[in-house]
Amino acid sequence: MADSWATYRAELGKDLHLDLSAPGAGSGLRTRLRDALREAARTGRLAPGTRLPSSRSLAADLGIARNTVADAYAELVAEGWLTARQGSGTRIAGRARPAVPRKQPLSARSAPARTTPAFNLMPGAPDVSTFPRADWLKASRKALTAAPNEAFGYGDPRGRIELRTVLADYLARARGVHADPERLVIRSGYVNALTFLAAALRHRSPTTKAVATESYGLPFHRDCFTAAGLRTPALGLDELGSRTDELTGLSGVGAALLTAAHQFPTGVALHPDRRAAAVDWARGTGGLILEDDYDGEFRYDRQPVGALQGLDPDRVVYLGTTSKALAPGLRLSWAVLTPDLLPHLSPYDNTSSALEQLTLAEFLSSGAYDRHVRAKRLRYRRRRDDLVAALAAHAPHVRVSGIAAGLHAILELPEGTERAVLRAAHWQGLALEGLSTYRHPRAPGTPRDGLIVAYATPPDSAWPGALEALVRALG
Ligand SMILES: Cc1ncc(COP(=O)(O)O)c(C=O)c1O
Repeated sequence: MADSWATYRAELGKDLHLDLSAPGAGSGLRTRLRDALREAARTGRLAPGTRLPSSRSLAADLGIARNTVADAYAELVAEGWLTARQGSGTRIAGRARPAVPRKQPLSARSAPARTTPAFNLMPGAPDVSTFPRADWLKASRKALTAAPNEAFGYGDPRGRIELRTVLADYLARARGVHADPERLVIRSGYVNALTFLAAALRHRSPTTKAVATESYGLPFHRDCFTAAGLRTPALGLDELGSRTDELTGLSGVGAALLTAAHQFPTGVALHPDRRAAAVDWARGTGGLILEDDYDGEFRYDRQPVGALQGLDPDRVVYLGTTSKALAPGLRLSWAVLTPDLLPHLSPYDNTSSALEQLTLAEFLSSGAYDRHVRAKRLRYRRRRDDLVAALAAHAPHVRVSGIAAGLHAILELPEGTERAVLRAAHWQGLALEGLSTYRHPRAPGTPRDGLIVAYATPPDSAWPGALEALVRALG
């Protein structure tokens, strides 16, 4: 019960914005669910017409009996807060007016945003409600039982050899990475890896004053370099990906950070000519490419394109993570270093738990990781298809750009409309972001307007409602 209650809080609290700590929290699960839903309908946090997840789907997400959800729904139908109709599911009733009437916005531009969104379409995390708990637990038990005593000591700063060995095999097989376990380093997330790399780049060459970055990207990744005193000039970006041909014209640049397989967040794949230009620049100048392969396993229209690192393992540092394929909460990532960077690792640099590393090693070697990724690929591909179909049916003026890959899609918007559409989306209860959040402050060219729709983030129970709210916002 403790587990299902935790899930209950996490899923409903986040996606339907129900206050579960409200009075009555000591009572039974059905009563708490009923009261929380009633409160959300009464205050207007869940707007009339909002479709609720099916009792089966919500029960599965919460890990509770379907009857518990069905009973809570039935009571609220009887009270008039919900309607249940064959074919259109269970919805907040039209007459469930907020106690304090909400002001209708004059236009999307002037609409006040709701304080807490009902549907989460923010990029960053996959649908964590489907984390493979049972398989992870099994791997964890096995790993802990088999762990040698020395695993409980400080250990190698590169991480556990068991993990580095199986990960090297996996990365070679799945991503075409030339991954010698001796060069693999386990880190606790990208920021941790980039912070190490920023310092190492400075020490590696006194002429390195900058790291080239992409026109769109995560601001806190750029910050890792600025914190080390490095500039982060932006490369241009077009439909072929980042303008790696511009690297030769930049001064003091010792490395370039690229999301080659699936540009984050704009979603283009780096064209082969641009890949070649990046490697040629690195070879010609002694620079390095830092390849951020955050979601490379998720391609839906073809086999994933192999990592850039395979072209030149001595010039490209490969970076990977469990954050997209498994869960960000694991805080496990890896870097395949070039030989000249290895000496910069401090003997005290081991940043992630040996036991989690051994568990991941077991998870990989048992085949559970492959199975999980295959299942997720299918699931996210369906989500993307749902999104494309919903837009074609209800918002045909909106174009989805970028390749069919990863955990998010970009919806192109007419110039100058991003802020207004974001306001309309927030008004519909959606947490989501636009491209402008990720634009490099000194990026060349005209800013693009677009929505980033992280279709992998919501649990199944929230997905249909999130799609409905999205097309309403775009309508
Ligand atoms: C572009 C990009 N790079 C890297 C990562 C992985 O970061 P971390 O390993 O710190 O979770 C993410 C995760 O959201 C990402 O979006």
